[in-house]
Amino acid sequence: MKIIYHGHAFVHFDTGKYNIFTDPFITGNPVCDIKIDNAKCDFIIPTHGHGDNFGDTLELAKKYDATVIGMNELAVYCGNKGVKSHPMNTGGAYSFPFGRVKLTIAHHSSSLPDGTYAGDATGILLMIDGKTYYHAGDTALFYDMKLIGEMHKIDYAFLPIGDDFTMGVDDAVKAAEFIKPGVVIPIHYNTFDIIKSDAQDFKRKIESMGMKCIVMKPGDVINV
Ligand code: NI
Repeated sequence: MKIIYHGHAFVHFDTGKYNIFTDPFITGNPVCDIKIDNAKCDFIIPTHGHGDNFGDTLELAKKYDATVIGMNELAVYCGNKGVKSHPMNTGGAYSFPFGRVKLTIAHHSSSLPDGTYAGDATGILLMIDGKTYYHAGDTALFYDMKLIGEMHKIDYAFLPIGDDFTMGVDDAVKAAEFIKPGVVIPIHYNTFDIIKSDAQDFKRKIESMGMKCIVMKPGDVINV
């Protein structure tokens, strides 16, 4: 199992058999390290409809015959565009060939770039080969993160730290305190000036609580 970071909120889970993308924002993403032509994927899980999260979902799904997994309204939209999709909703889980997916709440808005209502924004719990990964999506800090951490032993948590649209550093530090993951990885920052954030400051604060933080650059790989 490999975790590959492609910048912004785009995290790639490579199980060796399946490639699973979250928030595949390639076109227009100044920090993304890959192109659509070398972004082979089997499943795509956009956390919500915004352009920097939904990103190239439709193009990728068409090119690679991938299945889009996500919030009901968003999945139906993809199905209407002619791609394979699997609808879910907040709090529901489903077992896919690569593992189990559960959508969590996220406090954020969600509409597609063409204005279509995309349902609620979500976070994602991915359970693959005995490990649990939490991609918080775009979200504010919320106290139920504590519940997510109590109900699931999170091995890796991907938390937005860019501020303005999502949690900033200090709120994400509090989120990590609630979730208690094995490793915290900051996402959704420094893609654009409006979400400039200090990942090293975040790392210091996480480590001062006795927790582990890995700051990934686009293209970095973690072997799990
Ligand atoms: Ni968003």
